Amino acid sequence: MTSIKRIAINTGGGDAPGLNAVIQSAVYAARARGWEIFGIREGYNGVLEPQRFRDGGVVPLDCDDVRDIAHLGGTILGTTNRGNPFRAVRTQPDGTQLEVDRSTELVEAFRTRGWDALIAVGGDGSLSIAQQLVDKGLKIIGVPKTIDNDLESTLMTFGFDSAVSFATECIDRLHATADAHKRIIVVEVMGRYAGWIALNCGIAGRAQAILIPEIPYDIEEVAERIMAREKWGASFSIVVVAEGAMPKDGKRHLIQEAHGGNVERLGGAAAAVSSQLGKLTKKETRSVVLGHLQRGGAPTSFDRVLASRFGGKAVQLLIDGDVDKMVAFHPPAIVGVPLESIVGRTKNVPLDSDLLATARALGVSFGDNVPV
Ligand code: F6P
Repeated sequence: MTSIKRIAINTGGGDAPGLNAVIQSAVYAARARGWEIFGIREGYNGVLEPQRFRDGGVVPLDCDDVRDIAHLGGTILGTTNRGNPFRAVRTQPDGTQLEVDRSTELVEAFRTRGWDALIAVGGDGSLSIAQQLVDKGLKIIGVPKTIDNDLESTLMTFGFDSAVSFATECIDRLHATADAHKRIIVVEVMGRYAGWIALNCGIAGRAQAILIPEIPYDIEEVAERIMAREKWGASFSIVVVAEGAMPKDGKRHLIQEAHGGNVERLGGAAAAVSSQLGKLTKKETRSVVLGHLQRGGAPTSFDRVLASRFGGKAVQLLIDGDVDKMVAFHPPAIVGVPLESIVGRTKNVPLDSDLLATARALGVSFGDNVPV
């Protein structure tokens, strides 16, 4: 059992549908115990740079403050993917930028504010930062968030189902127009270095080819499979490309290289695949990038429930004194797993997964010359 009375919650990294449901559920559970709970704005920025926020960067949260937010996308607390306190950016008087470690200052600020623990809602970057803060003495429960579903130790992150559902709806719409014009339409979806979104929406939307980071593709094979469809009268095709997919002996498509504390930005895969398929098949092609549309919008009911369970379980772990854990979906239960178990690891689509086998049985090409 625990002596916790006052906690904080923050959201870090890219937003994902369901963040508000986690916040609401955690606030309700904490207030039901009589605890105080505070929301930190924009990751840790609300604490480290309070002057930037009209409300001082930290807001007390009561049930009334979060009553009608579970169905909303985004996060009422704001978020940032440039908020690493171990690599904070400070602008010098001459305008140059310097990286400084402000983690000790952050830990001190937590002590001064009397916070006994933090619920950190985030993806791999934010949860790795959380683990480093645990090493500096903070008590933290992590909540796994990302549309990419690439975090280890949990079957699913919240946000993923919403992204897949939206992408599937888009593919359904593209089917109609691709068929009407007998075109190849290439759809680029997010997912970073994992193919979960592409594989799931590709199967759900019955794409003819799905290109994922786990399987480097041979574009000629994709073109051959598309042309084989012509022989039996199917003269349109949908190709789903994960943003992190790459050709055999080639490189990932980037919009921007990593620089400073910023990770590389992926993008351009669909345009490249579309142009190559056009040349190889002599068919009309178009490409569509779903981009951040996959992250916005309301969470699906599945994500609302998963996120709510995560928020409730995070508080329960604190009640039990079971800290430095990440809540995780191990169906049918929500459990606590060591926070450190996810650090530095990416959950990729296993090459022996039944999902891949199912897609292959449906005739999907992964561009890897595996016969149907
Ligand atoms: O990790 C979530 C994610 O949406 C990735 O799928 C994508 O590569 C990245 O974030 C985009 O980040 P940003 O919002 O910085 O463009």
